[in-house]
Amino acid sequence: MTDMTHPSDYRKLIIHQITGDFRTSTQVVTEAWRAPQAGEVVIRNEFAGVNAIFDKNLCRNSVRYIKVDPPFDMGIESVGRIVAVGSGVTHLHEGDAVAATRLGSGYREYQIASASKVIPVREPSAETLALIPTGISAMVGLERIGEVRDGDTVAVSAAAGGLGHFVVQLAKLRGCHVIGITGSDEKIALLRKLGVDRPINYRRENVREVLEKEYPKGIDVAYDSVGGEIFDAFVDHVAFRGRVVVSGHTSDFDKEIELVPQARAYRKLYWKSASIRGFQNQAFPEYFDDTATRILQLFYDGKLQVLTDSKSFVGLDHVADAVEHLLAGRNTGKVVVRLR
Ligand SMILES: NC(=O)c1ccc[n+]([C@@H]2O[C@H](COP(=O)([O-])OP(=O)(O)OC[C@H]3O[C@@H](n4cnc5c(N)ncnc54)[C@H](OP(=O)(O)O)[C@@H]3O)[C@@H](O)[C@H]2O)c1
Repeated sequence: MTDMTHPSDYRKLIIHQITGDFRTSTQVVTEAWRAPQAGEVVIRNEFAGVNAIFDKNLCRNSVRYIKVDPPFDMGIESVGRIVAVGSGVTHLHEGDAVAATRLGSGYREYQIASASKVIPVREPSAETLALIPTGISAMVGLERIGEVRDGDTVAVSAAAGGLGHFVVQLAKLRGCHVIGITGSDEKIALLRKLGVDRPINYRRENVREVLEKEYPKGIDVAYDSVGGEIFDAFVDHVAFRGRVVVSGHTSDFDKEIELVPQARAYRKLYWKSASIRGFQNQAFPEYFDDTATRILQLFYDGKLQVLTDSKSFVGLDHVADAVEHLLAGRNTGKVVVRLR
């Protein structure tokens, strides 16, 4: 085993009580350093990715497949450098840059990871952090769940967000016609730069009306993470054999469930042979490694831009600020916290 200089303890963010609110549910505590065991590596985290909705749902104990019993380690995704290597690990070395995705491993200064689970990257940067796993989710959702085909008409909600800006670009790389929906003129300008064919500012234009008027043949793939009326408009304007990917519902995830009187779903889908498909990345681990390789390569080849939000958050004491910034919809691109 090799072991570089390290502190005797380090800081991490935990849920210490369930209040329903991120800031009051969490606190920064100290953890003692532990050396890696066989097959493990220790990573000094440099950037952590903010998944504000998931984070807040943990603070409400409302993630259906996770029971939060405080103290509970927070943060899923990070990039950093390996500082210690356990016995039996031969393919990774001290100083290597790696990305890691595991619940509880993100919002902390150091983490212990299984060497077989980390993804080598060229640099521990905000960009590589955004690609893994958010870029992976965009690619899996679009290709495997949405089954996008070259030249499809693709609609993306929260198109200038951390997830959405990847979906938009991946669809453009497939020669698709892309409709990008967002909530400000600044974000519209950015979507144009990314090649979006029909940006829609939902605060100025009615999404349903635009789809009805300008897309009489409907949408082949609708990649939705906003929900509410945008989801309804996507379902009602899905094309013959089209696919609506449900990748989140930012607009109402923490609201009372809205009961909407509508025709039953089969009335809308059957005659078009269309479908609504749920997608949560953790349910599709089989695509992870291959997609990571492909999306990193697109970035290294200069074919994919990574947008990270320009607001800077530094240190674990500012994770709550970053979460609130995203929840207010103020971000453009991926929200990251710099840990060093
Ligand atoms: N399926 C998966 O595996 C997977 C993976 C990652 C993330 N997700 C989900 O995808 C969604 C996007 O995640 P992200 O981290 O990339 O966030 P994000 O899209 O960067 O940020 C959220 C964006 O949603 C938009 N928005 C629309 N309606 C909103 C409302 N009522 N309140 C606040 N914001 C609103 C805002 O942009 P506008 O200005 O455009 O409105 C905001 O910037 C989340 O629902 C997340 O849970 C799913």
